[in-house]
Amino acid sequence: MEEVKTIAIMTSGGDSPGMNAAIRAVTKAGIYKGFRVIGIHNGFKGMVEGDMDELTLSNVENIMQYGGTILGTARLPEFKNPEVQDIAVNVLKTYGISGLVVIGGDGSFTGAQKLSHKCEEPKHNYKCNVVCLPGTIDNDLACTDFTIGFDTALNTIIDAVDKIRDTMLSHGRCCVVEIMGNRCGDLSLFSSINTGAESLIVAEKPESLDIDRICQDVAEGAKRGRKCHIVMLSEHMMDPTELAKIIEDRTGVSTRPSVLGYIQRGGTPSAFDRMLATKMGAYAVDLLDKGVINQVVSIRDNKIVNDDIDVALAMPRRFDEQLYKMNEMLSI
Ligand code: ADP
Ligand code: F6P
Ligand code: MG
Repeated sequence: MEEVKTIAIMTSGGDSPGMNAAIRAVTKAGIYKGFRVIGIHNGFKGMVEGDMDELTLSNVENIMQYGGTILGTARLPEFKNPEVQDIAVNVLKTYGISGLVVIGGDGSFTGAQKLSHKCEEPKHNYKCNVVCLPGTIDNDLACTDFTIGFDTALNTIIDAVDKIRDTMLSHGRCCVVEIMGNRCGDLSLFSSINTGAESLIVAEKPESLDIDRICQDVAEGAKRGRKCHIVMLSEHMMDPTELAKIIEDRTGVSTRPSVLGYIQRGGTPSAFDRMLATKMGAYAVDLLDKGVINQVVSIRDNKIVNDDIDVALAMPRRFDEQLYKMNEMLSI
């Protein structure tokens, strides 16, 4: 009788809505194809500690609709250390794990890449097929048009900013809204377009942090009767409280800061994210079944594709200049 192969799945880095849908898809597709499936808790930390359990069909029922990740996630900076990666390979060997699905962002992909190459070292000579799925709200991976969680976070932001606009309109105010994204402006740009924000500050366009121009736009808008001005501020660009004070002092328009924070990372995943996570999870199991190594799954031009991790991580990050220009035109 042929030996049952064991595959494992883990979530790593910042969580994102849709991770549970991906865990479900990998587990169900894996079991369907005859694999034993193990869930590793808390990312690379759990891997190094051997903190893992078998995932059964009943473990992944009724999880798709929840944000977060049932496996937990963590950050383990020590995983950059080759000796810690050696420990991880030994744990994979102990559990007989011959295929691994890592769901996370660029940092997790780098950890997975190092682990994959570590397995190939002569001292280990262990065949483990590593496949990564993009799971982060930031949409900061060059290889894929969209990451699992981006769409849900975008919808959460739109909902929050629409509410902020209601009250700002009533009071005739300006609001500086801080948006997550870890130096990727996609969440800020897409939410600007979808909420009609009047100003946008993103890392990809350092010149967008032009306080004189923003104040001028706020003042001119107020003069011609604009009742609400939203400044969409990407995190790490400037302190939102400080910017709000400068705008109010210079324009006389009452201005408030609002940090959306972690509500952006939680909540029930959108249909788009469930679909993306499910397609990518099933595709990852197909890749494991074929025995390919060191791969990343992406969506490009609405098609699920795969690339070598080394190739995917080397792709230059793109910022949609056309969308940015269109947004500038429409935010007058
Ligand atoms: P994300 O995956 O969302 O980008 P992080 O950047 O925090 O999140 O990375 C998640 C984890 O991936 C880190 O805590 C660490 O365990 C691992 N990791 C990140 N960068 C590296 C690296 N250069 N080498 C090895 N492991 C890494
Ligand atoms: O990568 C997702 C993200 O939410 C970023 O948008 C943000 O910069 C970061 O994680 C926050 O990380 P932490 O969970 O460590 O506060
Ligand atoms: Mg990252």
